[in-house]
Amino acid sequence: GTVHHYDFIVKETEVTRLCETKPIMTVNDSFPGPVIRARRGDTVYVNMHNQGDYGLTLHWHGVRQPGNPWSDGPEHITQCAIKPSTNFTYEINFTEEEGTVWWHAHSDWTRATVHGAIVVLPAEGTTYPFPEPDGEEIIVLGSWYEGNLNQIVNDALAQGQIPPLSVSYLINGYPGDLAVACPIRQTYRWVVEYGKTYLIRLVTAVVDAEVFFAIARHNLTIVAMDGAYIKPIITPFITASPGRTMDILFTADQTPGLYYMATREHQSEDATVTGFDHSNATAILEYAGNYSSSVQPLFPGNLPVYRDFKASDIFLEQIRSLASKDHPVDVPLDITTRMFVVVSMNTMACNNDTCLRDEKVVSSLNNISWLDPPVDILKAYYWNISGIYGDFPDYPPTWYNFTADYFEESFSTTWKGTTVKVLNFNETVELIFQGTDLLLGSMNHPIHLHGQSFYVIGFGTGNFNNETDPLSFNLVDPPKLNTYSVPKNGWAAIRFRADNPGVWFFHCHLEHHQSWGMDGVFIVLNGTTEETSMRPPPPGMPSCPSWTTTIPI
Ligand code: C2O
Ligand code: CU
Repeated sequence: GTVHHYDFIVKETEVTRLCETKPIMTVNDSFPGPVIRARRGDTVYVNMHNQGDYGLTLHWHGVRQPGNPWSDGPEHITQCAIKPSTNFTYEINFTEEEGTVWWHAHSDWTRATVHGAIVVLPAEGTTYPFPEPDGEEIIVLGSWYEGNLNQIVNDALAQGQIPPLSVSYLINGYPGDLAVACPIRQTYRWVVEYGKTYLIRLVTAVVDAEVFFAIARHNLTIVAMDGAYIKPIITPFITASPGRTMDILFTADQTPGLYYMATREHQSEDATVTGFDHSNATAILEYAGNYSSSVQPLFPGNLPVYRDFKASDIFLEQIRSLASKDHPVDVPLDITTRMFVVVSMNTMACNNDTCLRDEKVVSSLNNISWLDPPVDILKAYYWNISGIYGDFPDYPPTWYNFTADYFEESFSTTWKGTTVKVLNFNETVELIFQGTDLLLGSMNHPIHLHGQSFYVIGFGTGNFNNETDPLSFNLVDPPKLNTYSVPKNGWAAIRFRADNPGVWFFHCHLEHHQSWGMDGVFIVLNGTTEETSMRPPPPGMPSCPSWTTTIPI
């Protein structure tokens, strides 16, 4: 493969959106950030220069990074922050992804503005499993907050409250014509030619909600998700959770004119929060050429309404792997490790022997609410530093009843902790996520796994039934994804082979749930050969300020 080099200058840039001018953190002054382009088989080096005033890290969302967790990025998990006025070079190897993935900051909430698309073309000498499109368009869905976001979040976390929701969604950085919060119109425009087919590369960089997206009058044909091909889905709208990427074929086959592309929230933490701008973020699709068009673009009539869970379920049920000769399915059939993980929101956490029943909001996996360690998990693992992390709790699939009893149980047993699940190399893992969320109404939780994609073999509502639900698992053409939303008050089952040695974060990709502790870590041990072992650390790994013991990097 080819080697590419990028310089990413992270610094504050002044921007104006929704009548508010403020500095936001950006890469190379652009918002959304620069696009990385490579072919499958290529290697990309990104030298990140931190010219901001606080430490942060970058993550390559959906890239496997074989044997190289050192360049994966999540702060406290695989590295400490890259300090202001320093730099660090990430190495990104594209070995199995194809299609669109993305990159984003992975420290506090800076990813709200520090993010961009990654385009991975088919390997040299191979082609798409669909006809070559005439053109390409990147669409990044984002969120806009009022004020200084990290300040807002820190205040909310300190008080144990839900941080305020974003004031608007954005399409390629702009809220569009219909935003009610500000009379100044800032709208992204995409000009297309009649009759041509384009490949839309869509990135869901939204921070605090799941969203719907549609283009008026036009169908969308989804051909890939999360960097893997799927059987084409023809749909008038899509549902997207934070973290999700999609490759979508789009044909400009309607009467030439102006059409809105629009995004609208599907679900967020609090439907009743005041001050939220429930108008839709829009962008304009414009046909090139001479024609008489009405002044007002047409709005997508097919965009589902807020909390239309039925619409989103119908959409999600269609996702299947392409499962072709060139893109086969390799879902593990014999399982060596079965895990049951309860995904939950709680209002209290215990730390050692002190329990705070003080109505602070936390979130948890198996009733452990993640606590950041003083040195990142990867260093602690590599240099055998003891006392940094414990064992992720194992629960049988029947350990609780999905009732008020559970609610009480949950309240009394949520602990702050740093726990990891250790897997032997090549173990085959089946993981059942069970959503509970009796607190705060109920929500889907888009769970994301670093280091490998997984097959989603089933999902359903209510309690997972260990006797009957496995009978309906799809082991033929389940989709291979890196983020999947555990349905509100329901379950999702995934499988993967632990053949990527390293330290890999998994967490809810709704940012506030991640900061409240809905996080866990897999350590995949080395195999017996060099190819099946983790690489040694590269030079220049950032040191950890709150860890003083000398380790040899
Ligand atoms: Cu998209 Cu842990 O991240
Ligand atoms: Cu969540």
